[in-house]
Amino acid sequence: MKNFCIIAHPVEHSLSPIMHNAAFKAMQMEAVFVAYDVLPENLQNFMSTKKGWAGLAVSIPHKETIGQYLDGIDEIAKKIGAVNTVYRHNDQHWGTNTDAPGFLNALKEVMPDLSGKRVVVIGAGGAARAVISALKPLVGFLTIINRTVPKGVALAKEFECRYGGKIEDMVTETPDLLVNTTSVGLEALAEPNLVPLDFLKPSMLIVDIAYRQNGTTKLISEAQQVGAKFIEGRQMLLHQGMLQFELWTGQKAPREVMERALKGL
Ligand code: ATR
Repeated sequence: MKNFCIIAHPVEHSLSPIMHNAAFKAMQMEAVFVAYDVLPENLQNFMSTKKGWAGLAVSIPHKETIGQYLDGIDEIAKKIGAVNTVYRHNDQHWGTNTDAPGFLNALKEVMPDLSGKRVVVIGAGGAARAVISALKPLVGFLTIINRTVPKGVALAKEFECRYGGKIEDMVTETPDLLVNTTSVGLEALAEPNLVPLDFLKPSMLIVDIAYRQNGTTKLISEAQQVGAKFIEGRQMLLHQGMLQFELWTGQKAPREVMERALKGL
């Protein structure tokens, strides 16, 4: 039996166990995926037990700190500065990042040609780093919007794109693609708008990388309201999970099974 797990805090809302266990079952694999709620102060202790794990999914708040407990991290995880997947390689544990390519795979299903596209990314945390590192080499013009100015400026400098100020000062032409990497609008539809409603246009593709277990995020419901195309965070979860599955098992991920599991079917 191969053992996989997700480590995060909090972890109870994670859909990764449902998604991966459905895939293991469909492929008749002797494998199980469990969830561990690991506090930051317990990460070192938890990782001292890692020898038995065939693979780990890593989520908030451990993505930036887990690297020190691994045998190595690959180039993509280094560039993003975050590990979301641990896999075994020659009996060592290595870290990589499937958030960035998973985001891109989900995006390309709806917007296959990214060349020349004008993009606005909201947020400057770890999730924004994954999105920006995936998009920057492929799009035309990328603007970062972030509440805390120095964070936005530093990220824009690192990835050689533009810092466009805070949301409330946002003066940018209508982008082709708007990506929200913050958790604003995740808790309740009664939250304040992330961006002014009149900024959203039917011509835009709107991506929210966050998802709610039941229902849509506020931004996605607004995208629906204005008639824009949209991609929900669940699609990114699916695509990054498919890449994890393929890395861990060497087999093609059973997409339909994983997708149905995420929809609770
Ligand atoms: P993660 O690693 O998951 O991306 P993070 O590092 O905490 O999480 O980053 C969250 C991002 O959401 C940040 O860019 C944060 O803005 P600040 O840099 O100003 O902190 C943004 N964010 C979170 N709550 C926000 C809010 N209420 N309004 C605007 N931006 C918010």
